[in-house]
Amino acid sequence: MRVAIIGSGPAGFYAAEALLRRTDTVVHVDIFDRLPTPYGLVRGGVAPDHQSIKTVTRVYEKTAARPTFRFLGNVCLGRDVTVEELRQHYHQIVYAVGNEADRRLGIPGEGIARCTPVAVFIGWYNGHPDYRQAEIDLSVSRVAVVGNGNTAIDAARFLLRTPAELEKTDVAAHALEALRNSRVREVFILGRRGPEQASFTPPELKEFGEMEDVDPIVAPEELAGCVIPETADNSQQEKNLKILQSFAARQSGTKAKKLHLRFLVSPTEIIADAASNVAGLVLEKNRLEVQPDGTVSARGTGETEVLEVGMVLTAIGFAAKRIAGVPYDEKARVIANEDGRVVDPASRSVIANEYVVGWARTGPRGLIGAHKGASAHVVEHMIADGAGLEARELPDREAIDSLLRQRGVQIVSFSDWKRLDDVEVARGERRGAPRDKIADVEAMLAVLAQH
Ligand SMILES: Cc1cc2nc3c(=O)[nH]c(=O)nc-3n(C[C@H](O)[C@H](O)[C@H](O)COP(=O)(O)OP(=O)(O)OC[C@H]3O[C@@H](n4cnc5c(N)ncnc54)[C@H](O)[C@@H]3O)c2cc1C
Ligand SMILES: NC(=O)c1ccc[n+]([C@@H]2O[C@H](COP(=O)([O-])OP(=O)(O)OC[C@H]3O[C@@H](n4cnc5c(N)ncnc54)[C@H](OP(=O)(O)O)[C@@H]3O)[C@@H](O)[C@H]2O)c1
Repeated sequence: MRVAIIGSGPAGFYAAEALLRRTDTVVHVDIFDRLPTPYGLVRGGVAPDHQSIKTVTRVYEKTAARPTFRFLGNVCLGRDVTVEELRQHYHQIVYAVGNEADRRLGIPGEGIARCTPVAVFIGWYNGHPDYRQAEIDLSVSRVAVVGNGNTAIDAARFLLRTPAELEKTDVAAHALEALRNSRVREVFILGRRGPEQASFTPPELKEFGEMEDVDPIVAPEELAGCVIPETADNSQQEKNLKILQSFAARQSGTKAKKLHLRFLVSPTEIIADAASNVAGLVLEKNRLEVQPDGTVSARGTGETEVLEVGMVLTAIGFAAKRIAGVPYDEKARVIANEDGRVVDPASRSVIANEYVVGWARTGPRGLIGAHKGASAHVVEHMIADGAGLEARELPDREAIDSLLRQRGVQIVSFSDWKRLDDVEVARGERRGAPRDKIADVEAMLAVLAQH
């Protein structure tokens, strides 16, 4: 059996492992990535100051060491190769392309200079090649981060870290330099609903209280009346509330930087200055409304205020990007699927031998570890559906490589990646960091040409 997996993030690697562990048949897995580097958001999203999370890549290295595994980096589905070509060269295809599109607030002023989707900021400090040239202007003193999830927390924490805290991380060198000169002193995290509805996880929230030069600030009145629902699984909300209460009870601190957590406010307009840069946000106060199904939503009260900030980062979720030839669910903004089997979005009929895993299947929900079981579950479907498929004769395994090379694509193998990895780690040692990333595809290919 020969399987193509598109995307080498956690979901793709866990699917590969589940396939390669099969004992009933030999599976050859080719895992493609549009970048020369593997691991998706583990490399390009997970915060550089959370290095221990990144050690999960050791598990993926073991998968990559299996004899029937290949990594074909620097190959983009939809640019370098088509779905139709993959169908000719593989028995089954797994899309593991993550959620690389942004969601928008849809309010006036969105998109002016210094109003940026959070993916740009995160990709920039993580050395993702897409964002190497992003214009992140840190000459402002106050920044708003919209959204109450862990991505908002990561962005806010990074804006407020001291240079000493950042130097020992694998933050990209260009970002480290800019953050060293940053004038940001105050960050406001803005939630449209209440503290009980925030999706932060407690360890991430708590970290604001442990930072070198940051005082976390919560207005006690914003916590008054908070009621934790009596559900079986409310421990996250309880813990979050306790942490927020401890922040609210603190004496006004003396640290140079402030992190404000605000709740029940929605931005309704981004205000520009004369040079068309962000100058502030109009915020509408919300109240909570319980819906008949028990969900709690935010409703505007009409009461507004202006929050003066010089930059806005929107951290309100992500969506799958459309790829030519891959069925797309416009409503859920994921690859159209039924429990991981790709379907036609209109008729919902199954497209044979095509599957989807990870965030491309579910939307941006869940931590790295959750993909292990979820990808294995989809592989169960692949096994159930795939009986006898291996009898279909395919071109030689390397025929896909020849096709790509004819098009001028420089395929990056896993051993090429390991050479890049060594170079990055050696560069990092010089600055006392775990690695110093190469943040540019051309530069990566040039390094491979030399080493
Ligand atoms: C900012 C941020 C921080 C996070 N921090 C943590 C954390 O600390 N701990 C934790 O457990 N979880 C964290 N998560 C969640 C975790 O990163 C995700 O659950 C996980 O990465 C999703 O895996 P995935 O494989 O579906 O997608 P991804 O990791 O996004 O991988 C998708 C891969 O597909 C490739 N690709 C996309 N399009 C194409 C194409 N057309 N052709 C070829 N390749 C393509 C991409 O280059 C990428 O390598 C974080 C998420 C974000 C956004
Ligand atoms: N350090 C970490 O462990 C880490 C870091 C980053 C991400 N992650 C994980 O990655 C996943 C995604 O995290 P995420 O933070 O990107 O997403 P998220 O948890 O879904 O949070 C998105 C936030 O945006 C808000 N939002 C959505 N639309 C909005 C709008 N129009 N106006 C105002 N607010 C709006 C949501 O509010 P509502 O709730 O009201 O919809 C929610 O608070 C999660 O599983 C997370 O745990 C983990």
